[in-house]
Amino acid sequence: MTGRERILSALAQEPVDRLPVWMMRQAGRYLPGYSALRREHTFMQMVSSVDLSLQISLEPVDRLDIDAAIVFHDILIPFDLMGLKLNYVDGIGPLIDPAIRTEADVLRLQKPVLDDSLTVVKTLGRLRERLGRTKAVFGFAGAPLTMATYAVEGGSDKSRPAFLQMARTDSTTLCALLDHLALIQAEYLVQQAACADVLQIFESHADLLPADQYMEVGFPALQRMIEHVRSRCPEIPLILFGNGLSGVFAAVRDLDITAVSVDSATPLSEAAAALTRGAGRFVLQGNADPGMLLQSPPGVERFTERFLFESAAMLGHDEGQGLPTGWIVNLGQGVRPPTDPKSAQAFVRTVHAFQNRAGSLP
Ligand code: CP3
Repeated sequence: MTGRERILSALAQEPVDRLPVWMMRQAGRYLPGYSALRREHTFMQMVSSVDLSLQISLEPVDRLDIDAAIVFHDILIPFDLMGLKLNYVDGIGPLIDPAIRTEADVLRLQKPVLDDSLTVVKTLGRLRERLGRTKAVFGFAGAPLTMATYAVEGGSDKSRPAFLQMARTDSTTLCALLDHLALIQAEYLVQQAACADVLQIFESHADLLPADQYMEVGFPALQRMIEHVRSRCPEIPLILFGNGLSGVFAAVRDLDITAVSVDSATPLSEAAAALTRGAGRFVLQGNADPGMLLQSPPGVERFTERFLFESAAMLGHDEGQGLPTGWIVNLGQGVRPPTDPKSAQAFVRTVHAFQNRAGSLP
């Protein structure tokens, strides 16, 4: 099977010859090619160039023999298209100027033109040309609430004081912003769907709010975004990643998505038990701890082997019972910059060698 077939088979709950694998944030600062380009260009220059974005998207594919390419790009780029100034500052993170604090600020946001002239869409088209049917090609976008946490904060304070204050005291402005973002983010994915095999939505900051408040404000906007994508692209596989979504799995079950990418803090067994549909369960993706990639390659092999046996058992396939269907192996959060590419290689190699039988690994 090709990597693309493996990923698409897992998403269709069909058998695979090897477990499919890719890594969140696989195209990033831990790779030498990326770091070399980053020394010469700003992040915004890199995401604005189709040639550079293509080269960066392909580096992990060429180096790691991984099953999917995710387009190099960032969830925050739509803010640039909405007329805000977006900047990625070394050692600080993304900055958005001006921050969105009032309803008037929301009304001033431009409605971007979303069509096939977007750099991300052109890069996806070039990735498709280069990879043909060998690898699955992923497009992506941020969920409305996760996007809003950056826009309201403006800065990169991880505890998001301005966002939390708005959530507490000004739900009118927050809901206006989420409404605006839901449609734009949906249309942004629809444009990517023309060239992508799979779309992933990142709800990375669902955990900033308690579950009941997330259900009141964040979830309805996510649902609207998904419904809009589905109305335009009924067939494309749609994966939802979120930090802290386990508290709202009962509602996630009703979303019109294909798979859930599980964060490292949530046991796969908990996701498998909660995310059921009819007699079966959702396709799951995840959720190895990215911290384990900081070990040397032999350490990564040992950890990954244990992770695979344990996860397969959590998905109902004890040792000797064959490869689980409906599972894409991935990390539960993004690859961390100090990761040695050789350790990332060891992770992918170990996943591909796994047959769920004692002694089947190198
Ligand atoms: O390889 C891939 O996964 C594709 C590219 C990708 C990037 N960002 C490139 C990037 C993807 C899928 C993202 C998603 C993203 N961006 C998320 C959701 C995933 C998650 O980690 O939860 C979020 C929350 C962001 C926002 C963001 N972008 C932050 C907070 C930062 C700074 C901190 C960091 O992680 O580096 C970025 C910058 C960014 N996006 C970099 C890359 C390669 C590093 C930029 C640099 O070189 O300075």
